[in-house]
Amino acid sequence: MTNAIAIICHLLAINLWFGGTFYSVIILPRAVSALSLADQHQILLRAFSRFFNYAWLAIVLLLVSGCWMVMNIFGGFTAMPLYVTLMLLIALLMVAIFSVIYFGPFSKLKKLQGDVTAQQGYVSQIRMLSKVNMILGLSIIIVIGGGPHFVI
Ligand code: HEM
Repeated sequence: MTNAIAIICHLLAINLWFGGTFYSVIILPRAVSALSLADQHQILLRAFSRFFNYAWLAIVLLLVSGCWMVMNIFGGFTAMPLYVTLMLLIALLMVAIFSVIYFGPFSKLKKLQGDVTAQQGYVSQIRMLSKVNMILGLSIIIVIGGGPHFVI
């Protein structure tokens, strides 16, 4: 029963993190691209500010539910299969990249006033790093989806 709750939390957290990332870096910037750059940056900054709080929540949920399952299903970190080890390592890399986004370009973007060129640079960095994270996340899904079916 607790494993069922953990996997549900795990999958919900993934939906929240990836769905939000996809929407805020792929869909929204294209939807507002006809506006002036200053307006685009205002909208994106507000969207990032709100979404990133939920992303932190999703990260905590993902790590806690993942560690919970490692302990309960496999009996500890030394006994887990290779595909779960890969999932954990890639997930940690993704958390590191998200931290870079949050404390780097996002934090600088919040403090900038009126410098549209500099804002554009930070928005581009946030989008580029977020895309890297989405590719890493996709690779986890492939490893997890395929992991138990491959002999690795
Ligand atoms: C972005 C990060 C992550 C993604 C996208 C992800 C994805 C997934 C998915 C899709 C499943 C379901 C697999 C299935 O039911 O067939 C799963 C299960 C699982 N995840 Fe993650 N995960 C992530 C992070 C983590 C972390 C950090 C840990 C460990 C600390 C972890 C440990 C586990 C475990 C133990 C299972 C159950 C595996 C099994 O029952 O065979 N995950 N994960």
